[in-house]
Order: sequence, then structure tokens, then C-alpha cells
Amino acid sequence: MSNVVHDGIIDGKALAAQVQQRVAAAVAELKQKHGFVPGLAVVLVGDDPASAVYVRNKGRRTTEAGMKSFEYRLPADTTEKKLLERIAALNASDEVHGILVQLPLPKQIDPAKVIDAIAPDKDVDGFHVINAGRLAVGRPALVPCTPLGCVLLAKQARADLTGLEAVIIGRSNIVGKPLAQLLLNENCTVTVAHSRTRDLPEVARRADVLVAAVGRPELVRGDWVKPGAIVIDVGINRVEGKDGKARLVGDVAFAEARGRAAAITPVPGGVGPMTIAMLLANTVRAACMQRGVDLPEALAGL
Ligand code: GUN
Repeated sequence: MSNVVHDGIIDGKALAAQVQQRVAAAVAELKQKHGFVPGLAVVLVGDDPASAVYVRNKGRRTTEAGMKSFEYRLPADTTEKKLLERIAALNASDEVHGILVQLPLPKQIDPAKVIDAIAPDKDVDGFHVINAGRLAVGRPALVPCTPLGCVLLAKQARADLTGLEAVIIGRSNIVGKPLAQLLLNENCTVTVAHSRTRDLPEVARRADVLVAAVGRPELVRGDWVKPGAIVIDVGINRVEGKDGKARLVGDVAFAEARGRAAAITPVPGGVGPMTIAMLLANTVRAACMQRGVDLPEALAGL
């Protein structure tokens, strides 16, 4: 097990810090050897408080890694046309290598149109159909950040996932589907389960690698976990605790599952911190693709 697994708990915060350091080293190398600095643009439409927090954190981490950060805050009543014009300008900018439009968007804007408008080689979220297609057929692609983080976390518990049974609960375009492709690439036997799966607990119990990504607080109980499994919890659910205070829980009943799993990610401090770290890595990857230079050694395997 790697140095971020202690007592069967995979420390996503510590792993994210390691990824951030590797990104910073890669950025320094690109600047020194090739004379350019990767740049990430984040666009936030409206004033959803949770989104505003994410966007601020993304900007801070981007500059901490030595990259350029561009932030655009547009009012909640921004038209789709205005947003598409902003994206066109970012597509054309030489300083911007990665573009992220924070989701969800206000009702008047069609997210599919927005994602379609982002240049695929700048699509650091990996949401464009071109990138989904590239991933599906095994070509170099920009891959969604959360599933990339999940695989890296699982590999801290076991470096080689070859031959393992992986069960993903959740079939979203952002997590479940791309994660299935990534785990196939790791030579897992992959099952994608969802809300209509028959006997979900029994399917979950097959898993050597169990990933929960459904957004249902503590859906996965301890007895759904095969003894010795690696459990990756993508859920971030705000619930009211017994004391009436809000607290965050995952899609897995952590205390129950912990006793059965060989390794498990906590909430918070598991998958969450990894998402921004992988976004930074994706931005460096995107910049290298656009500049036609090799990915720095520091990012090998990410
Ligand atoms: N909103 C919550 N998570 C994400 C993400 O990873 N990317 C984007 N674009 N919006 C989000």
C-alpha cells in the first residue's frame, strides 16, 4: 500500500497534495524547457454559493501550481449566446489551454450546447462527446477529473487492479460511464449498476473494487461490501446530524463498511480533494497537446 493509506483509510487530501506537487514540477519544467505556462479558464454563471466556493478553490490551486488562472463570473441572467461568445473567445486565446464551465447552469442555458462549443483539446472536464468517444475507443483523450481521481485512489490500495471485479454504482456521464472505461483499461471486469439494478446488494458484494456514485446518503451498507474490497465513495451528501447540525456523508455507510473493506475513502477527504488535483493535471496535459510537446515525466501515470 502507498504512503497515503493508513489503517485502511485512503487519504485523498494527502494524495491530492502529492498530485499538486507533481503538477507544479511539470509546470516549472514546461516554463524552463519550452517557455510557456499552462492557463486554465473557469467560467461561473450565476451565484450558486457551492459553485462559487469550487471556483474560488480551483483558481487558488491553479496559481499555487504555477499556472495562469482566468476567472469569468457572469450574471445569472446571462444569455446562452453571450456564454457561447465567451467560450469562442477562450477557444481562440493562446494563453488559455483549459476551459471549464461550472455546472449546473441557469435554466435558460442548454448545457449540451455549451459543452459542444468548447474546443475538445481545451475540454479539461472531458465532457465533450469527442473526448468521451476518444476514451471509449482507447485514443488519447481528456478524461473527466472525478473518475481519474477514483482510479488513482484505488491504485493506492493496490497498484495493479488487473483481473479484479469492479462494480460501479451510478451511470452518469460525469462519473459512472467514464470510470467504467478507465477500469476496463486497468483490466478490471466491470459492472455498471444503477437504481434499476436487480438485487443491488448482491451485485455490490461481487466487487473487489466497489465505487458508489449515486448521491444517496449512506446507500451502501456494511454488508454490501465484500471482505477485503477497495471502496471508493464519490458521494458528497449534506444531511442533518443527530445534533441538528449539517454534516457531510458519502454514498457509503462509512463506519459499517470500514470494518469489511481492505481500504476505503472517507467523506470528506477522499474523492473530493482529488477532483481539482486531476483538473490541474488535465490542464497541463491539454497545454502539452496544444503545444505539441511531451507530457513532463513528473506527470507520468496520471
Ligand atoms: N460542478 C460540480 N463538479 C463539476 C465539475 O467537475 N466540472 C464542472 N464543469 N462543473 C462541476
